[in-house]
Amino acid sequence: MKFFIDTANLDQIREANELGILDGVTTNPSLMAKEGITGQDRILKHYVDICEIVDGDVSAEVIATDFDGIVAEGEKLSALHEQIVVKVPMIRNGVKALKYFSDKGIRTNCTLVFSPGQALLAAKAGADYVSPFIGRIDDISTDGLLLISEIRQIFDNYGFKTQILAASIRHTMHIIECAKLGADVATCPLKPILDLLRHPLTDIGLEKFLADHKKQ
Ligand code: E4P
Repeated sequence: MKFFIDTANLDQIREANELGILDGVTTNPSLMAKEGITGQDRILKHYVDICEIVDGDVSAEVIATDFDGIVAEGEKLSALHEQIVVKVPMIRNGVKALKYFSDKGIRTNCTLVFSPGQALLAAKAGADYVSPFIGRIDDISTDGLLLISEIRQIFDNYGFKTQILAASIRHTMHIIECAKLGADVATCPLKPILDLLRHPLTDIGLEKFLADHKKQ
């Protein structure tokens, strides 16, 4: 399973990259705003800065919701850097744009996916990634992980090449369960990635090994 980091914070992207486990980055307009990245020129430069840190796919989201606007914005984003994947919302014009981009060889990530039917449509339209938001589904007392298993089954039934990019991940168990269910990618904030490292028996074991070594 690939690990993407879900942030626009350059320090956190560097930290995850230095760990040696990072395969890519996802951003969205909220994450960009959180870092104070505003204005088109700054936003475009920030995407290039991210691409220069990480050796992998970097999702950059369009803001337009009309077909022509999505296409114009997506083409501009894609031209920024070969690592850019254009993130397109799961709306009617988004599906049309996914097909347009797919025919043009522009890579896409269909975002805001909350049902198996939406994932199927995105795959049919040629999306390279679909992003089911599991945490936001859990937030409304429904099972986000069930969606991952349903999409996995559908894609496997028909051999769709679209990768399942589990998004809106909140904690380590989301990552583990996504890995068990066969998600192709998990995109996570830095904290749950680092939390995977932790186990009290590792700390206790290491402390004892080091203490015993000192006795020799
Ligand atoms: C990533 O592609 C998504 O935009 C992101 O994971 C959403 O996460 P959130 O539900 O924590 O905002």
